[in-house]
Amino acid sequence: MKETVKIAIDGPAGAGKSTVAKIIAQRLGYIYIDTGAMYRALTYKIIQLNLDLKDTSLLINCANNTSITLDNSLGIANQLVYCDGKDVTELIRTPAVNKLVSHVAQISEIRTIMVKIQQKLGLTNNIIMDGRDIGSVVLPEAKYKFFLTAALEERVKRRQKELLEKGYNVEYKTVMNDLLNRDLLDTTRETAPLKIAEDAIIIDTSSLTLAEVVEKILAIVMEGEKDAL
Ligand code: DC
Repeated sequence: MKETVKIAIDGPAGAGKSTVAKIIAQRLGYIYIDTGAMYRALTYKIIQLNLDLKDTSLLINCANNTSITLDNSLGIANQLVYCDGKDVTELIRTPAVNKLVSHVAQISEIRTIMVKIQQKLGLTNNIIMDGRDIGSVVLPEAKYKFFLTAALEERVKRRQKELLEKGYNVEYKTVMNDLLNRDLLDTTRETAPLKIAEDAIIIDTSSLTLAEVVEKILAIVMEGEKDAL
């Protein structure tokens, strides 16, 4: 079987990972996999079912009985997220899901379930995958690994703008507290915490435009793949 090309993009919330990854996927004709969307879809279902968040085995059982799929048939920019066959693309971006997703994502058995699905997707396609543990756990063999980061104030501003565009007018301070809380949970959890893979290239996006970040990554991948592209 021909070896597929894998690009891993990790970093904290609001660093611009998914926007950048989508554009690169389009430019290279790779499949984009938003792993955060998978944790979000499960969190949405848990909220809908009103499950007790303290009952870890109940949450694991729910994950074991949930089908989460990503559909790129409308194009990468319009990737659809399905949970048990229901389109939850918009429903997973609400403040309620933002608030609880890190809690769900820190359960190690749930991570094992998600990682298995994510690794399978990389077997047969050239992919660009974004998340927190992609370079370190999901695709440690990835040829290209990037860690995007940005100053907290910048990440808060971006998240606030994103929420506003979706019709949620959330105060700066609330968005900041939510991000700080998620950063804390994501970096201190026992299983696969957010960390920089040893061989990852770090890009601070605070003072870079979207186009500059995209070009930086593309230049590296295109140089590495010049014979294949
Ligand atoms: O990238 P995002 O904001 O959509 O991610 C949502 C949450 O899911 C985030 O708090 C961390 C978690 N996550 C994770 O633990 N591992 C991943 N590979 C992707 C996301």
